[in-house]
Amino acid sequence: MIEFSTVSKVFPDGTRAVDDFSLVIPSRKTTVFVGSSGCGKTTLLRMINRMVEPSAGTISIDGDDIAGQPPVQLRRRIGYVMQNSGLLPHFTVAENIATVPVLQGENRKKARTRALELMETVGLDTAMANRYPSQLSGGQQQRVGVA
Ligand SMILES: Nc1ncnc2c1ncn2[C@@H]1O[C@H](COP(=O)(O)OP(=O)(O)O)[C@@H](O)[C@H]1O
Ligand SMILES: [Mg+2]
Repeated sequence: MIEFSTVSKVFPDGTRAVDDFSLVIPSRKTTVFVGSSGCGKTTLLRMINRMVEPSAGTISIDGDDIAGQPPVQLRRRIGYVMQNSGLLPHFTVAENIATVPVLQGENRKKARTRALELMETVGLDTAMANRYPSQLSGGQQQRVGVA
């Protein structure tokens, strides 16, 4: 569960991007943020992983205030699928999928085995494991992002 509690964000130039926003996002449900351009959706999402710090209010994950959590560890616990793939261009498909486990100290061989399993899960031929993102179609790149 992610909870926004009376969150506001005022950028240094005075723009009030988010004003006294509260919302509970339940676990194991799909939640969609819909709103007009410039209403604050991206700013709110960027506050969940501390890319943007709120000016007021608190954000908690499973009851713990994220303000007290180291940003790097916090971000490694969050999965992201980017619209424009967001893959590392100099890493192969398998290396991209294994990025976070390797950062967390998993040995490379195990991480690669798991990456190949995940490729199958998302319907990608494991023969593509050693390709670079630029050698994949847009849809295939997105599936690497999901994996
Ligand atoms: N770094 C920033 N400095 C000043 N204003 C910003 C900054 N980032 C976003 N904004 C402004 O904050 C408002 C909300 O932006 P944003 O969260 O990106 O909207 P959305 O994703 O809903 O389209 C907009 O008016 C935008 O121009
Ligand atoms: Mg946006």
